[in-house]
Amino acid sequence: MAYQWDSRLEKGIEPMDQAHQEFVQLVDGLLKADDTELVERLQALVDHTHEHFAQENRWMDETGFPPVMIHKGEHERVLGVMEQVLEKAREGDPGPARQLIEQLPAWFDQHAMSMDQALAMFMHKTGYSVDG
Ligand SMILES: [Fe+2]
Repeated sequence: MAYQWDSRLEKGIEPMDQAHQEFVQLVDGLLKADDTELVERLQALVDHTHEHFAQENRWMDETGFPPVMIHKGEHERVLGVMEQVLEKAREGDPGPARQLIEQLPAWFDQHAMSMDQALAMFMHKTGYSVDG
């Protein structure tokens, strides 16, 4: 199995696109990982995702993005599941992590095409500067 960056995921906001490309790469690495590297790679995904979601949450706060609770709620839920399956994998049960990893490409495609798409459009519309 593989997960690859697709131009449909591109939102024209550079730090968002960068974070999303990194997410795709990390998930792709996890799809190909054997059990010996699973925990380490999953920890890297959790670390990345904390930052990636915190960055988007900050943009939502700073732009006054209307559906903020729904978008933040989904971030929280997904991070929570990632942390749970990481814990299980650390305890020697990689099954739940494997299940989640298989579902992440479809989840992220959907999330990026809906919630992140809406956020990116709102950032463009309000003229929000990510550098400032
Ligand atoms: Fe998001």
